[in-house]
Amino acid sequence: MKDAAPRTIRLADYAPPAWLVADVALTFRLDPQATRVLSTIRFRPNPDSTDRTFFLHGEGLKTISATIDGRPATLREAEGGITCDVPDAPFTWEAEVEIAPAENTALEGLYMSNGIYCTQCEAEGFRRITWYPDRPDVMAPFRVRVEGDLPVLLSNGNPEASGPGWAEWDDPWRKPAYLFALVAGDLVAVRDRFTTLSGREVDLGIWVRPGDQGRCAFAMEALKASMRWDEEVYGREYDLGVFNIVAVDDFNAGAMENKGLNVFNSALVLASPETATDGTYERIEAVIAHEYFHNWTGNRITCRDWFQLCLKEGLTVFRDQQFTSAMRSEAVKRIEDAQTIRRHQFKEDQGPLAHPVRPESFVEINNFYTITVYEKGAEVIGMLRRLVGAAAYKRALDLYFDRHDGDAATIEDWLQVFEDATGRDLSQFKRWYSQAGTPRLSVEEAWEDGTYTLIFTQETPPTPGQPDKAPQVLPIAVGLLNPNGDEVVPTKVLEMTEARQSFAFEGLSARPIPSILRDFSAPVVLQREVPSAERAFLLAHDTDPFNRWDAAQALARAALMDAAGGAGDPAPDWIEGLGRALADTGLDPAFRALLLDLPGDEDIAIALAERGDVPDPDAIHSGRARIRRILAERLSPQLEAAYHEGATPGPYDPSAGPAGQRALRNRALWILTAADGGARARAQVAADENMTNVLAGLSALLSIGAGEAEAAAFHDRWKDERLVLDSWFALVAGQAPPESAVETARSLADHPAFAWKTPNRFRALMRGLAGNHAGFHRADGAGYDFLADWIVRLDPVNPSVAARTSTVFSSWKRYDAGRQERMRAALHRMLDRDDVSRDLGEMAQRMLE
Ligand code: ARG
Ligand code: ZN
Repeated sequence: MKDAAPRTIRLADYAPPAWLVADVALTFRLDPQATRVLSTIRFRPNPDSTDRTFFLHGEGLKTISATIDGRPATLREAEGGITCDVPDAPFTWEAEVEIAPAENTALEGLYMSNGIYCTQCEAEGFRRITWYPDRPDVMAPFRVRVEGDLPVLLSNGNPEASGPGWAEWDDPWRKPAYLFALVAGDLVAVRDRFTTLSGREVDLGIWVRPGDQGRCAFAMEALKASMRWDEEVYGREYDLGVFNIVAVDDFNAGAMENKGLNVFNSALVLASPETATDGTYERIEAVIAHEYFHNWTGNRITCRDWFQLCLKEGLTVFRDQQFTSAMRSEAVKRIEDAQTIRRHQFKEDQGPLAHPVRPESFVEINNFYTITVYEKGAEVIGMLRRLVGAAAYKRALDLYFDRHDGDAATIEDWLQVFEDATGRDLSQFKRWYSQAGTPRLSVEEAWEDGTYTLIFTQETPPTPGQPDKAPQVLPIAVGLLNPNGDEVVPTKVLEMTEARQSFAFEGLSARPIPSILRDFSAPVVLQREVPSAERAFLLAHDTDPFNRWDAAQALARAALMDAAGGAGDPAPDWIEGLGRALADTGLDPAFRALLLDLPGDEDIAIALAERGDVPDPDAIHSGRARIRRILAERLSPQLEAAYHEGATPGPYDPSAGPAGQRALRNRALWILTAADGGARARAQVAADENMTNVLAGLSALLSIGAGEAEAAAFHDRWKDERLVLDSWFALVAGQAPPESAVETARSLADHPAFAWKTPNRFRALMRGLAGNHAGFHRADGAGYDFLADWIVRLDPVNPSVAARTSTVFSSWKRYDAGRQERMRAALHRMLDRDDVSRDLGEMAQRMLE
């Protein structure tokens, strides 16, 4: 229901809460249609506020009763909640409300998934459960009683007492309402124990649907490893007697860090060799760690308001990245993270949805759980660490935990601990939090009398609401190589602060070859015309794995861009260099796999748009197919060797070593399949060793327009495994030939298993098609219409997933007039509806501006 225009919330308008909460007691009488929630909340005036207005958030609540100090309260409706008269002194609020979890399709607040009650309260879901000051700067201890005729009744904190049909939980740690959780239903636990640094015993439980117990072992190991790592590296210990994780099938996001009771999308918990790929294993490990790490960075220290979201998310992503590097390969992880930033975050920056790491306004906060806030937020912390050094970073973090434990903090607080720990002035660095967009870094070189000079210029293009940008602090890691391939100047971090700045290296005997932006030391676009011979030289000799990989990427990108423009042959430097690196068995297989990871169609579209060209999706697609065939033919011995080297006989092991071998094998397979008619891929599917190899084989087959029978057999075998079926939906839509991809997607949408209200299934199909670049961007607009129709249909049911899916249209200005017109029309169709949600309305509006 669209009443008044939705309100814009601004960081500048922040005011502290008028009332604080001393403690909360909740009782839930569970019922699918009529759950009763009884609350007893003790309020006290906030000494830091002069305002005494009493306001409670609430949405869709049926109030049964409400009292203040035992006397009936007269509630007056206010925007987004209620207000009423209160004493000018501490008082107790008691209320009873009714809600209907079974009707809650938005999956925010208390809802049901397969008969299991569960909650998602971040960011503003708690207001759908009961009347409450639902803002992160109001923190309180919670006691919860859950009543219901169900085998398992869980909430935050430590279990207090229980009996048949009831359980009581006590969470002594003050927390904001967004960290509240309740789960109840027919669940079984896989249990373990963990002894903390100081000897505290913690009961660990992973709760799943009966039948899924056999797929929790990997998640449990990841949890214990995370707990240990946070003690060893950050000195952070767990603080309750229990830590529970629940897997649910219907979940809007990946997972949620509720205090002592994390709730996960089951796709990020359950894994077995038959059903999960190496990629899934790695993601499970990272997300388990991420949510666990939030206990300190998010829960013990939370955000003052939602504009500070990156305070917990950027830092926690940075921590989970460090963890993955420690568990796996540091070099490979850095390349993967850089790839994610360039593919997805740069794309966000390039379009109408660009926003700073700390946004300054929003209509619906769910729309700002973005790659910019999360991953660019993590990059900003990585730069900070690079600038101050590892030891100072550690001091600053210790100070942060010391000073802010129990606080709802801000980015200003965060930067202050670094200033205090290092004596640095971070006022210019702070622009990374307020300025949107990707800086372009260009380079000139000078060579004279043994002195080599790099002259850098930085410039950030305008983004919505920010026409002019000031120079930012850029840590630029540089190394210099001799023409013979030896490193003459090892990595040095240059600190650029001006719009134009030069750095000299003296006493060199020959003009060096520079390796710039090593380790992807800043999230910028490096603009430098480099001859392909120099790139090939870096691919062969650079000591920095990121730049070595990046040299190969740049060569591949150039070849694919040229191919999209109709050019014939790629640079021989690239093919020869790639062949040599591939054959170098001294290099980590996972690293060599990344060398074979060609930029995707959309990456090429972004790169073409970046240089001012209008991308033609069909030409990009056929150019890529041609390059793939050329590689298959010219590198066939090296690819074959890599394919065999990547065999991992014996029982499946998801750890980094064998996973890297499989990655190498399957990248080689994908290319070889372009020239062998699919023989190897078909054999690999038939060999059925593990899900990683089967899906890679199937995907390679589908990508050459073959594999229909294999895909059908795969479907029949796995039709009762919901997570595997999601992969099938995504794969079939994603790999369909572009000219028939929309028809394929339509028939998938008619499939009886297309449970469109389940976010995982919806996303599998929609993201599958949208990821099929030429298929989605079909010139007649059929792809746009398909997505738009489904988004419009989902919007009244689940606005947050509808809004998130709509971002596939954010690239519309990149394309030709005809496609632009059709994408714009699709956006208007989503927006111009009487019942458009606040979520989708804000997104479509921003994309059209
Ligand atoms: N805090 C959660 C995490 O990053 C994600 C919550 C997603 N919520 C949302 N409204 N999008 O671990
Ligand atoms: Zn998070």
